[in-house]
Amino acid sequence: MLKSLFQKQSKQNNDGIVPIDPNNMPAHVAIIMDGNGRWAKRRGLPRTMGHRAGADVLKKIVIAANDMGIKALTVYGFSTENWKRPEQEVSLLMSLIREYLLGNVRDMHEHNVRIRFIGFIGGLSDELQRIIKDAEDLTMNNTGLTLQLAINYGGRDEIVRAIKDIVADVQTGTIEPGAITEDAISNYLFTKEFSNVDLLIRPSGDYRISNFLLWQLAYAEFWFTDANWPDFTPQILEDAVRAFQQRERRFGGLKTEE
Ligand code: IPE
Ligand code: IPE
Ligand code: MG
Repeated sequence: MLKSLFQKQSKQNNDGIVPIDPNNMPAHVAIIMDGNGRWAKRRGLPRTMGHRAGADVLKKIVIAANDMGIKALTVYGFSTENWKRPEQEVSLLMSLIREYLLGNVRDMHEHNVRIRFIGFIGGLSDELQRIIKDAEDLTMNNTGLTLQLAINYGGRDEIVRAIKDIVADVQTGTIEPGAITEDAISNYLFTKEFSNVDLLIRPSGDYRISNFLLWQLAYAEFWFTDANWPDFTPQILEDAVRAFQQRERRFGGLKTEE
């Protein structure tokens, strides 16, 4: 006990903060970018200002995640349920996504970031679909962080679409029913090879997944913070990674012997 306490303390740097272990990074981090509206309300600003501030934060977090050596970052930008919001807010969010991509894709490309989109992209405007395709095409061979932007994404919608595609492929004989394994199903999801999330972060003080990555979160570690998304910083991301590194993941097995 005393020994392990000593070992823990000796790992701390001068500020008393345990350094991040580069050999135990979460490969795939997912973030529910929530709390923009509350951030704005607290400042007496319109919700739209919260969304603008949130988009600025995303830029910084993508670069920070890339620098930290995280392999994949999936961020929830617009859910299949967010269409229920007032038309004005929905169209502002759509134009912000457009602006964000037009303003940042080049820069992310220069940082070697690969951009992918998950969600029903066919349900977005033709212009946005074109911008999305251009962003994916430009960055497809990059080898740094893979950024998956979830737009018009719903975990249940993703599963329904996967089932329909599997049934169609069974009917044409492309896949045998016996070949429908967990891996095969993962490949029918929007996330494809990035189907296992290691760390899920939800800011804003709500403790739910709101239809995000239902299949992919099976053994993810969950981490919550009261900070709203526009107040999120690279330091908060580091706190989440440090907390992840303290967790013991068992995947249904037993605790590893010390
Ligand atoms: C997240 O912030 C952005 C989207 C859902 C698009 P919210 O708009 O949900 O902010 P809160 O939860 O109302 O504070
Ligand atoms: C989840 O947040 C969706 C995004 C952050 C894009 P919501 O604000 O839509 O979730 P609920 O309604 O609080 O569950
Ligand atoms: Mg919200």
